[in-house]
Amino acid sequence: MKSPVSNNNTLLYGGDYNPEQWLDHPEILEADIRMMKKAKINTATMGIFSWSTLEPEEGRYDFSFLRERIDTLHKNGIQVILSTPTGARPKWMADRYEEVLRVNEEGQRAYFGFRHNHCMTSPVYREKTREIDRRLAEEFGHHPGVIGWHINNEMGGECYCPLCQQAFRDWVRDRYHSIEAVNKAWNTTFWSHTYQSFDQIEAPSGRGETFLHGLNLAWKRFVTERHLDFTRMEKEAIRSAGSTLPVTINMMYNYTGLNYQEFSEDLDYISWDNYPTWHKTRLYETALDCGMEHDRMRSIKRQPFLLMESSPTSTNWQPISKLRAPGVLALQQMQAIAHGSDGALYFQIRQSRGASEKFHGAVIDHYGGEDTRVFREVTAVGEILEEIREVSGSETEAKVAILYDTENRWAIEDAQGPRNEGMYYRETALSWYRAVKEYGLDVDLIDESQSFCYGDGKSDSYRLVIAPMLYMLRGDITTRLKNFVEAGGILFLTYWSGVVDQDDLCYLGGRPYGMRDLVGFRSEEIDGLYDGMENSGVKVKAENLSEREERILSKMKESYRIDRLAEIEKIEGADVLYTYGSDFYEGRAVLSSHRVGQGYVYGIAAALEQDFCTDLVRAVLEEEGVTSLLGEGHKLPDEVTVNSRTGDDGSVYIFLQNWKDEEQELHLPADCSVILGRDDGKIDALGNLVLKKTLV
Ligand code: GLA
Ligand code: ZN
Repeated sequence: MKSPVSNNNTLLYGGDYNPEQWLDHPEILEADIRMMKKAKINTATMGIFSWSTLEPEEGRYDFSFLRERIDTLHKNGIQVILSTPTGARPKWMADRYEEVLRVNEEGQRAYFGFRHNHCMTSPVYREKTREIDRRLAEEFGHHPGVIGWHINNEMGGECYCPLCQQAFRDWVRDRYHSIEAVNKAWNTTFWSHTYQSFDQIEAPSGRGETFLHGLNLAWKRFVTERHLDFTRMEKEAIRSAGSTLPVTINMMYNYTGLNYQEFSEDLDYISWDNYPTWHKTRLYETALDCGMEHDRMRSIKRQPFLLMESSPTSTNWQPISKLRAPGVLALQQMQAIAHGSDGALYFQIRQSRGASEKFHGAVIDHYGGEDTRVFREVTAVGEILEEIREVSGSETEAKVAILYDTENRWAIEDAQGPRNEGMYYRETALSWYRAVKEYGLDVDLIDESQSFCYGDGKSDSYRLVIAPMLYMLRGDITTRLKNFVEAGGILFLTYWSGVVDQDDLCYLGGRPYGMRDLVGFRSEEIDGLYDGMENSGVKVKAENLSEREERILSKMKESYRIDRLAEIEKIEGADVLYTYGSDFYEGRAVLSSHRVGQGYVYGIAAALEQDFCTDLVRAVLEEEGVTSLLGEGHKLPDEVTVNSRTGDDGSVYIFLQNWKDEEQELHLPADCSVILGRDDGKIDALGNLVLKKTLV
């Protein structure tokens, strides 16, 4: 399925444009256009925080500045993604209608200020939102220069006002129907927390209850529902004015305040804002971390997404504003494209003179000229994106998926035990992610509600699914995993899996619940290791192993380090490949393999070092005949990443990025032409290379 904003052989380039700050400077507004064109900017996102300019007094609307700018941009070949202004509200509204202001968990109502702090339930806020959205859509929804909608801005946060508390009670009632069911699901008899009626339910709060995990989970789901419901309301307002343009919200890096997957069906395309802290560690480390986030965003709809915001240089809200070394900007923006974005947008085009982001990086800085390092680099990226624009709309066909589930994460991180000092859910997923990336493949990050097919057909099934800490089982996940393996899929399942149900109630009768016959063991106990404490996983003697297992083990080391968590398994049919090297469970399984139908399940009992993940992924994928994007037997050079996208006509684009500050040699796969970069088998220091493989 195509991303609806990118169907015309263009990669979107540009970013947040906030000219309402400059209406008394016509020369600046003019320079904006000239400089945007110079930098090859073709897209401006507008109106994001414009409410007080668009509706300066209640009921008095003035869209003239927007109309003038959109017309002018359009005349100059720059298209607009128009935002609804609802991420921040005018002062008059806060003054007149107190209910639009958020209440914190201590029960205090906020004063006017900041942004992203309105009550999502408030009927007044909704009414005002609906009205301005509808009017904007009437005015601009058919403008030839407008290509899409961006709703609100970086939604998130919680409101504990009486209206939200009541909406939460209603939500709980809708989900559980009877108060007895609630008490059962949340195990409220413990510490005498039993409810007699729905009216007694309160949102979790530091002043009240935070240890009822079922309640916490319900609240987080409700908060997602509030934001989703608000988004739907905004989208309906736009549609009610006849605008059919695609709609998105801009999502955030590693944000756990909302379950973004729930937005999948309501949004026409996914977009997100990427602000990496480059140079804090090696570029390559940051690149893997961002790469995982790009892949997660793409996987929400499994279609091209849009990088909605990024900084052309430093931000000013991170603890320290580090500049980017020359070349890093092109790597950053090309990384988005490599992972499936159909554009690369910035915050913001012209740097503000005052207020909180006056020192945030921008395409045009306070100096205002074109002869700046940043402007030159921005222009160079614009030129690259024009050169490779044919990749727009091409799709990622990942053969490997990592199950990375927000609700599961909520539950793991909220539970007390087995390691309150860190379960490292994201880091664990990242280790497996890194392993697959270093093998040289694309990866999807899907949640438990998504299918195990990367395309539309049955034959597009992933070859390998990696499930780190599948703690909370949602829906029919165990049945689907079983079907996947029986049909020939490979599953890696780690410790701390199959522990609780969708309400966070522990399963009885042994874990991993519903998957004991799949993994071929029962998890008896789990040991939390103190920081600094280690164990090891030691390779077993080859005597009783199958040829397949022997081949896999021959590619792996004798032993690997373990820290943090060690589960003790009672084997029920699986073959044991690695065992613990010490402690009272020395000799018990660390890695096991179990054949089920046409596929295999690898059980991973402990938190093992990176090399283990990297070696196991490599050994198993080689055994399965899944070759890397570089072709059989060709390893990626150190700190080079590879991604691919496939076009409608079957052409495959291969993106190579060198995160090292030195030139490196590369094996170029056969039948490829170079569409960006060198064609002599080398990649520049901090260089990009894009290859095209055409089906013959
Ligand atoms: C976020 C916001 C923008 C701006 C940038 C600055 O992404 O959406 O309005 O504040 O951060 O980095
Ligand atoms: Zn509220």
